[in-house]
Amino acid sequence: MSDALSPLEQRLRAVGPRLRRQLRRLYGDAAVGPLWQQIEDVLRRAHAARAPALVALDEARLADPDWFVAPDMFGYSTYVDRFAGSVAGLTARADHLEALGVRYLHLLALLKARAGDSDGGFAVADYLAVEPRLGTMDEVEALAERLRAARISLCVDLALNHTADDHEWARRAKAGDPHYRAFYHVLSPEDAAARERDLGQVFPTTAPGNFTRAPELGGEVWTTFYPFQWDLNWANPAVMLAMIEVMLTLANRGFEAFRLDSTAFLWKEAGTDCRNRPEAHYIVRALRSALDIAAPATLLKAEAIVPTAFVPPYFGADDGAIDDAGGFEPECHLVYNNSLMVAGWVALAEGSAALPRAILAASGGLPRGANWLSYSRCHDDIGWGTVLGDLADLPAEVDPVARLRAAARFSDGQTPGSWARGEPFQSDGSVLHGSNGTMASLAGLEAAGDDPDAREMAFRRITLLNALAIASGGLATTYMGDEAGLLNDHVYRDDPEHAHEGRWLHRPRMDWDALGSDAARRITRDLARLRRARIASGGAGAPAPLDSGDARVLGIACGRDRVFLNFSGDAVGIAAHGFDRLSGAPVAATLAPWQTVWLGEDA
Ligand code: GLC
Repeated sequence: MSDALSPLEQRLRAVGPRLRRQLRRLYGDAAVGPLWQQIEDVLRRAHAARAPALVALDEARLADPDWFVAPDMFGYSTYVDRFAGSVAGLTARADHLEALGVRYLHLLALLKARAGDSDGGFAVADYLAVEPRLGTMDEVEALAERLRAARISLCVDLALNHTADDHEWARRAKAGDPHYRAFYHVLSPEDAAARERDLGQVFPTTAPGNFTRAPELGGEVWTTFYPFQWDLNWANPAVMLAMIEVMLTLANRGFEAFRLDSTAFLWKEAGTDCRNRPEAHYIVRALRSALDIAAPATLLKAEAIVPTAFVPPYFGADDGAIDDAGGFEPECHLVYNNSLMVAGWVALAEGSAALPRAILAASGGLPRGANWLSYSRCHDDIGWGTVLGDLADLPAEVDPVARLRAAARFSDGQTPGSWARGEPFQSDGSVLHGSNGTMASLAGLEAAGDDPDAREMAFRRITLLNALAIASGGLATTYMGDEAGLLNDHVYRDDPEHAHEGRWLHRPRMDWDALGSDAARRITRDLARLRRARIASGGAGAPAPLDSGDARVLGIACGRDRVFLNFSGDAVGIAAHGFDRLSGAPVAATLAPWQTVWLGEDA
């Protein structure tokens, strides 16, 4: 019978109940009827407007849901303006991405941002327009097509938690429109003060507190991040409807992935810290269901910078226990493995592989059609606190907070003998928060100056961290400039819109001349070797730690291969023999300081 139904009708039947289940959980039985009608209408309209090439992509990916869990997947993340000035400039530079083997491109700050400071583009003034300085949506659509032809999927941020204070919804709210006022959380000063006691601080130094006075709204508006980023009230079904429409409109422009910004913060509930609430998951599941119906080629990626134990649920969960629907309910296809990233830097500071080993062990068991996004650096700081719980579970004499503070001090170059040149973020160094710095500056290239031995060690550390991201099986994503060994960029201090924000330290402009430097040649050569080794290994997906026989060395099984990473500055003996895919030479019985070896199975 169902053979006679169109693919859309089939998916409405198959996935619709999953979407309605989330709506019921979020908004109650009574709200679901009319809301579902409106959402169904949006889904049908979006699907009808979808270009034939994208519909074909939908079909191909439905037939191969693991398409992005592949050994050759490799990602790149960049600000458009910092990379190439504009969308047209980026299109002209696409050959650089192809040469690196990129198959997934995350463009930051692409959509129209608030005037003035915009938290690096994360205060969005219009989700459906491109930042005018950079180009037009038509140019982006052409870029997406050009990239798709090169098998590169384009990803854009969908800042779900907040709009800019000059977004049309916010402007209408300020003008007194009650419909849009209800898009935000407006509290009395007393209620805001009461809530504040339960909440954490994302930017304690530059944006303390979680509420901002909004006289036009007659109260305090919830602002988890900067005062100009107004948190959306997802308890209002109109927000859900509006955001589904935004998402599907963008998907029809050719974006193949959405980075769901700050997913942990979406639901507010009195008496809680308002992070990782079950409802935040239902919201993501609703968005996923909508995509699965109307644009199923599209990936969702969760950014949830939260303690390790709270992260895997962003892939989805089996919620038979919550109601009797049962079955696995998917959320995001990709989730940042933030804890593994932090663990890599802790391991370098400590000369011990203990923490990344524990995180790898906690990162297994992925559902089908899902993978980690693995990385060493991104546009944000290294937030140390997310691995506190993992350290507490490890046998150690040192208290976890002290251990992380030591790693942070080391990374900030405050420990005698440290090679790292990071800087504390949202902290003067006295409290644990984050560290900023480019990969090269944190790994020792800046401090090495012209000293060839010190430079060699820095290159090895860079390769070691790239190897962690690649060998652990995730969609390994490099941050723009790290492939060229770009150092910390201090010019942001002279820019009034950036001076207060230390993360600009590691968001340099691409130096195209630097790509010809010895450093860039060495780093990109090693990256290419790592990528080729992974392809040859056939490995991708959930990581598998291996016993290396030494606490300083991390062992990882990647496909048919075994990879060993020496996080220490010591020469360490290993009991592995065979052929190293990276150097093309037989593996010596001893790993050199910070050496990576990739043992091919056909050794
Ligand atoms: C995400 C972004 C970060 C931004 C924050 C608020 O964490 O990665 O850059 O500051 O969300 O939008």
